Amino acid sequence: MTLTEIMQTLPYGPAPEAAQPAMDWLKAHKGKFQLFIAGKWRTPASREWFATINPANGQKLAEVALANATDVDKAVKAARKAFVEWSQTRGHVRARYLYAMARQIQKHARLFAVLETLDNGKPIRETRDIDIPLVARHFYYHAGWAQLMESELAGYAPLGVVGQIIPWNFPLLMLAWKVAPALAMGNTVVLKPAEFTPLTALLFAEICQNIGLPPGVVNIITGDGKTGAALVEHPGVDKIAFTGSTEVGRIIRKATAGSGKKLSLELGGKSPFVVFEDADLDSAVEGVVDAIWFNQGQVCCAGSRLLVQEGIAEKMYAKLRARMEKLRVGDPLDKAVDLGAIIAPVQLEKIQRLVQKGVEEGAKLWQPSWAVPAEGCFYPPTLFTEVAPASTIAQEEIFGPVLAALTFRTPEEAVRLANNTRYGLAASIWSEDINLALDVATQIKAGTIWINSTNLFDAASGFGGYRESGFGREGGREGLWEYVKKIEQHRTAQGQSSARGLTAKASAESLPPIDRTAKLFIGGKQVRPDSGYSKAVHAPDGRLVGEVGLGNRKDIRNAVEAARAAQEGWRKTAAHSKAQILYFLAENLSQRAEEFARRLSEQTGQDGGAEVEAALEALFTAAAWADKYEGLVHPTPLRNVTLAIPEPIGVMGILCPDDQPLLALARLAGTALAMGNTLVVVPSPLAPLSATDFYQVLETSDVPAGTFNIVTGERDELALTLAEHDDVDAVWYAGPQAGWALVEKASTGNMKRTWTLPSSGPLPDTEEILRQATQVKNIWVPYGA
Ligand code: NAI
Ligand code: MG
Repeated sequence: MTLTEIMQTLPYGPAPEAAQPAMDWLKAHKGKFQLFIAGKWRTPASREWFATINPANGQKLAEVALANATDVDKAVKAARKAFVEWSQTRGHVRARYLYAMARQIQKHARLFAVLETLDNGKPIRETRDIDIPLVARHFYYHAGWAQLMESELAGYAPLGVVGQIIPWNFPLLMLAWKVAPALAMGNTVVLKPAEFTPLTALLFAEICQNIGLPPGVVNIITGDGKTGAALVEHPGVDKIAFTGSTEVGRIIRKATAGSGKKLSLELGGKSPFVVFEDADLDSAVEGVVDAIWFNQGQVCCAGSRLLVQEGIAEKMYAKLRARMEKLRVGDPLDKAVDLGAIIAPVQLEKIQRLVQKGVEEGAKLWQPSWAVPAEGCFYPPTLFTEVAPASTIAQEEIFGPVLAALTFRTPEEAVRLANNTRYGLAASIWSEDINLALDVATQIKAGTIWINSTNLFDAASGFGGYRESGFGREGGREGLWEYVKKIEQHRTAQGQSSARGLTAKASAESLPPIDRTAKLFIGGKQVRPDSGYSKAVHAPDGRLVGEVGLGNRKDIRNAVEAARAAQEGWRKTAAHSKAQILYFLAENLSQRAEEFARRLSEQTGQDGGAEVEAALEALFTAAAWADKYEGLVHPTPLRNVTLAIPEPIGVMGILCPDDQPLLALARLAGTALAMGNTLVVVPSPLAPLSATDFYQVLETSDVPAGTFNIVTGERDELALTLAEHDDVDAVWYAGPQAGWALVEKASTGNMKRTWTLPSSGPLPDTEEILRQATQVKNIWVPYGA
């Protein structure tokens, strides 16, 4: 190619991601994998193995064990045995394991992404930017539910052993969707990956080993449909969770009927992508690309039926064809490729057969002018127009990059067409008229509806079908019900902490004399108090244990300014990121648990180790709530959605109580932070040193500067300054009753919210703190076409 040609066409050069690290990992296992049962690799009783192939080049990647009924039995027994302890393990401890899985997945994200691309054929861009980040997100999110199970699902218990069978289109993501909620709720798992894509599940097994997950909690057995059937039929299994074809879903429904096994099925779809004439067509075209060419169209909720309003149909098709001409099909490891390989020859043949059928039935076929690579399993993006509503390609799931377009005239007709299949997994609606879009959304029978968007997924939002797309939900609070059962009397195993590295022994042993003055922490920096004075801190027996800075009006003003500057950024930080930061805080605090325990014991004369434990839990709880404190949809009259959304209050002053100073800090400030507030914290004057030690933890935990400020000093003096400050939105004051009136009176200037608490005694529970840390905004969205 000459330079002129290059300048004229500006083609993409190849940008391949290296396969080597994944190949090295396979080599380290000698290209042959056993079954992962009871925490160990076991030779299959079947003595059989089968190959897994890279569909992009047909080459064998590795051999994996083929589990038979005996192997299934061993795995179920291992899971049963592990269930005894795991189901009694406290939520906080389970949360720690799930958190460790999330961290491990992030740490090895690229290895997972490359391995997934090799085994499945999907573009590296998708595994790297979508699959694997969503997997980590799923484990984080469910770490939170493990933490909250005891309070939020009181009266519910785990089911027992869960058999999970997953498909090949999102191998690790489907594993995460299944394993994370099951473990969070205290179940143990036997998972069977799809035969085409077992490898990332095996890498995940290695992670389970590395983090010291108790043996048998997760068992991974590779195999085929027969293996799956043996798992379904095993009497020791309490629940089956399946994602795959409607055909196999039906077989499983029959096999489990009457057995008492709980069942969730996530099956196929033929989801409509509805475009009204007032839609932003260019966005809609990009939407179609995501809807049907994402993952080569091998997506259960793929927008495989384009329903377009008659007046704009030709215009839309023209734009679509122009866009299709520019899509790139090829080596999935190439970072600039849009469509990778189809999973296997059998699937390619199925696609070809159904496309042939479409042509025979009279629809008009269009494909780009270029050819796909001859080697490997590739199929071009394909558009059918003039498709009859009852024809095969409008009714059957093709599971390939093939779009069937139909037209409609009125919204009523669009709804009728949209609902004209046996499925009901998802739908996408495009219109600039929100009235119309919401009106149509309420009428389409599907578990997920995207407006002016498509294929959006998150751990916080339940996913699952209506009608023949299956039942049960995965993700969100609603997904948890699939993994628990109601019990008459709920027993929790209290005080049974067995997490690794969790125990910080309390010690009465005192530190050497301290000549260090703890500073204030303002705007992410340690600063000396403006007054230039320090204040002594004594133990209950009168001994001097340290000194802290004596903050004044000026220090508070600086702290408020820093908190205000940080407020906008922190409020807008994604809930998931806030959660991650809070978990990280807990992690870093646990690194220094002993030191904090000692310091607490000195200041309070109480069991510091127990308090550090409780503070760690409080941070986990705050992290858990960060992405789970949800709003409501109010049933107001009229046709309407009224969204009640909790929002942060803003800049908050928190004056901490005297009892359990570290726990109070973690519970009050942690929760307020989780809800998006930025803080000026005044530690208890009796025991401020744990708070000042805590700023070193803040510094190492990615807490943005200014989000969390600490000013030590005289409580009431600082409280008054905070209460009078017009840029503070709320003050929580824990202290003597006399101070309550002071704060409430002084706060009238800007009508700030106040919350007064006693200086000692039990802390308020998290539910109340969450309410105090937020204010509800109601958004009314009427609709009607
Ligand atoms: P499948 O439904 O047969 O496979 C899904 C999983 O079920 C695999 O792990 C498989 O080993 C297991 N399985 C198969 N037979 C079983 C049985 N009798 N009992 C228990 N487990 C069993 O899907 P397959 O054959 O991979 O693909 C066939 C078609 O299914 C595709 O062409 C596609 O149309 C559709 N499909 C839909 C998916 C979805 O998410 N909606 C996912 C995968 C496939
Ligand atoms: Mg493969």
